[in-house]
Amino acid sequence: MSCHGGYEINQLLNSSPHAGELELKVQGAAVQHDRQWLITGATGFIGREFVRALLQRGEPGNQIFLIVRGKQGVTSRDRLFAALAPILDQDAIHSLQVVDGDVRNPHFGLDAEDWNRICESSHLVHLAANTSFTATIQEARECNLLGTREMAQLARECRDRGNLKHWSHVSTAYVVGDRTDLIHPGDLRSGTQFRNCYEQSKNESEHFLKPCLTEFPLTVFRPSIVVGHSRSGAAGNFNTIYWAIRSYLSGQMKLYARGDTPLDLVPVDYVVDAMLALIDRPMAHGMTLHLAGGKSTTISLLEFAHKICAYLDSPLPDIQNPARLKILCRLLSFARLSAKRRRFIDQAQSYLPYFCQNPQFDIRLTETLLRDSNVAVPQLDQYLPNILNYCLEQPWGRRSPIPGTGYGQKNVAHG
Ligand SMILES: NC(=O)c1ccc[n+]([C@@H]2O[C@H](COP(=O)([O-])OP(=O)(O)OC[C@H]3O[C@@H](n4cnc5c(N)ncnc54)[C@H](OP(=O)(O)O)[C@@H]3O)[C@@H](O)[C@H]2O)c1
Repeated sequence: MSCHGGYEINQLLNSSPHAGELELKVQGAAVQHDRQWLITGATGFIGREFVRALLQRGEPGNQIFLIVRGKQGVTSRDRLFAALAPILDQDAIHSLQVVDGDVRNPHFGLDAEDWNRICESSHLVHLAANTSFTATIQEARECNLLGTREMAQLARECRDRGNLKHWSHVSTAYVVGDRTDLIHPGDLRSGTQFRNCYEQSKNESEHFLKPCLTEFPLTVFRPSIVVGHSRSGAAGNFNTIYWAIRSYLSGQMKLYARGDTPLDLVPVDYVVDAMLALIDRPMAHGMTLHLAGGKSTTISLLEFAHKICAYLDSPLPDIQNPARLKILCRLLSFARLSAKRRRFIDQAQSYLPYFCQNPQFDIRLTETLLRDSNVAVPQLDQYLPNILNYCLEQPWGRRSPIPGTGYGQKNVAHG
């Protein structure tokens, strides 16, 4: 039986005789005080939405510090502005305190003054990660494992100074590699292999954090495949599932997949709202929690493809044996290709495992902890049109609609 922060999971899940006790504890969410937040990954897909949701709560006394790195001659501040300007007004962005740092470095590369300042934090949210499925193990560990260690160092100092109230670590539901069974939160056993170094480094980070779950008010959040906002459809990037759909619809690639592969998708606003609600639930501290759609929203890849094609008036996909893509890629590895073409093939290969087999995720613990909140996973049919409309409006992340396909021209109203 798994044990999290002193509470046994089955005790939480059983509706009797402990349900009443749980409800009492869950309702007794932490009282709000002035908070100093320290957030990493604010320029990313989930991080932007997290910062927006936090600001939208309009809680007085919130001070928000963000660790952002400069890149290619652009300062951290300018990069943050560019990332947040489409979703936040200027005043809101100006209320944020940008700290120039890189999570791979000791103390995030901050000088003593800045480090001391962030040691005053009451709430830590670690979202920064190298999320590339083609990263080498060295690259993935450098950011994901070392970054987690630095965050643990910060958590320790915040705690020792009497400031720490909560620490959120954002992992992934796919830490378990190529398993195909139902995964319970906190289960870290990997299958026969990891599908990429990203998964491996995230798994290693969770192993590193295991003792911290009892020492700190830490919650490890494991989202599944995160898609855009359930109402606006807005997505921070067009990677993973978006890349695959776009490549198929534009005719760049056939749909190499196993039709019965389960897909667990979750909209970004659910991830963020659930995190914000759970941070305030002492019962969630010391736990690892899935932020996934779970059984009721998981669908087969074939069914998902049919829904998309039906909505976009596209012909139904002819699913190809994934082994053919592997052979094709092997043959192409000997060919002389442009860097762009090579990148495309590498990407296709890196996503392929997720179209062949996936685990499913047990979300009962998360649902139980969120029971008296108004945060619940929406059904895919409710939000998929919004996601697709946004893709059409943004031509799937391209500057102009891809010529020669019908999907960029469909005239649809916002849901
Ligand atoms: N999106 C999903 O479907 C999904 C699913 C499960 C779990 N997750 C987890 O959720 C978290 C956020 O994911 P995401 O989709 O928002 O990722 P993302 O869009 O790729 O953003 C990653 C963020 O991490 C920052 N970062 C990367 N390396 C850094 C470094 N060395 N120093 C400082 N910041 C650094 C990036 O900053 P730059 O702008 O400077 O690169 C960016 O803000 C990650 O931990 C990821 O593993 C995501």
